[in-house]
Amino acid sequence: MRILVVGNGAREDALSWRLSRSESCDALFAAPGNAGTASRGTNWAIPATDGKSLLARALEERIDLVVLGPETAIAAGVGDRFRDAKIPTFGPNRAPGRLESSKIFAKRFMERHGIPTAKSRVVHSLAHAEKALADWRGGCVVKADGLAAGKGVVVAPDAERALAVLRDWYGTGGVPGGGSDVLLEEKLEGRELSVFALGDGKRFTIVGAACDYKRAGDGDTGPNTGGMGAYSPPAGFPDDLERLVAERVLEPVARGLAGENERFVGVLYCGLMWTAAGPSVIEFNVRFGDPETQVLMPRVRGDFAKLLRGAADGALDASVATFDGDPCVGVVLATPDYPRTSSPLRDLGADVSLGDAGVAFWGASNARDGVVDAGGGRVLTVTAQGADLERARANAYRAVDVLARRMGAGVSLSYRSDIALDR
Ligand code: AMP
Ligand code: GLY
Repeated sequence: MRILVVGNGAREDALSWRLSRSESCDALFAAPGNAGTASRGTNWAIPATDGKSLLARALEERIDLVVLGPETAIAAGVGDRFRDAKIPTFGPNRAPGRLESSKIFAKRFMERHGIPTAKSRVVHSLAHAEKALADWRGGCVVKADGLAAGKGVVVAPDAERALAVLRDWYGTGGVPGGGSDVLLEEKLEGRELSVFALGDGKRFTIVGAACDYKRAGDGDTGPNTGGMGAYSPPAGFPDDLERLVAERVLEPVARGLAGENERFVGVLYCGLMWTAAGPSVIEFNVRFGDPETQVLMPRVRGDFAKLLRGAADGALDASVATFDGDPCVGVVLATPDYPRTSSPLRDLGADVSLGDAGVAFWGASNARDGVVDAGGGRVLTVTAQGADLERARANAYRAVDVLARRMGAGVSLSYRSDIALDR
């Protein structure tokens, strides 16, 4: 197959690596891609959201499978365009993609179909929020409705502090992602995990799971980010985890989508809180996670490209690839001002191809003439495998140390030191 990966993050670096090692992959293309994707195929200088140009080029290049990386491409209808042109595409159309692109749509969908999730209220203005919060008890999670790159959620310990956030959003700050709709949600207690299920338009099949670290600082302090690290498989959850998630979440989602005449082809990423009563859905994403993908891809065995093509063709065969290789831990290195801003990084000055067995560097950067030129924010994910999570963790942090020593003068990247520690 001639495969196109849409996107340019560390996630697409990892996806393209696994796809390029699949027996059924003949040629790999990425748009717009990054240094990693360029090392395995051809980058097209086309933005991930420019469906029209992507389709024109894909037809010219006789692409056999499109894999959509970022939610922005899905929300822009890139999946619809490829599917209308009969090019097999892994990644949903825009309409079912609202499970991610609108938190209010997702909440209503879950309510309609009896999927466990936190109780919530929707507000549209500060006055409205003041009223909704007047009798609020306990913690309150404030969520902007639209896509905000992981930055539209604030977990407030009480109504007063939730109101402070809303004063800012409805005042000078603006609601992240635009618009005025905000979801106020009860704060759930438990441990978080992300479960990844592939949809082929008929049903969902769980392929893997990971634990992600959303807060910027050690010990889960500081603001929410897109994710500062991850490990897979999750440790410390019940043995019947997959069965419970399938029964309580995925089967009702599949029935709900069918009842609403939607076909979902792609990954359904279930962000879950494991509460005393079992799984409760914090969020859905409709694509692979970043950095979760970086810890999942090294664990895949078999023909990953064929697995995704099966889903795109409406007939997923889960036996062609499994996600059960050695445990993997990933640490994200970000520019120190992330997530407040994302100042660009020039010349990391490090040899990022340091290739110990089981260690990998996944980059959201472009490298030209030995100069690493990254957009800022989450620049690199360092991953390592090991016979168990403890060893994988030690290997990952050893690699981070080596990298930190090799970095150019004046370059400093921040990272969490407790990934995979609190199991
Ligand atoms: P989201 O973008 O909806 O996944 O939210 C980002 C992060 O905020 C999640 O990964 C959780 O750590 C936290 N969070 C979101 N909703 C809740 C909730 N209802 N209760 C507790 N924590 C939450
Ligand atoms: N790591 C969280 C996400 O990809 O949304």
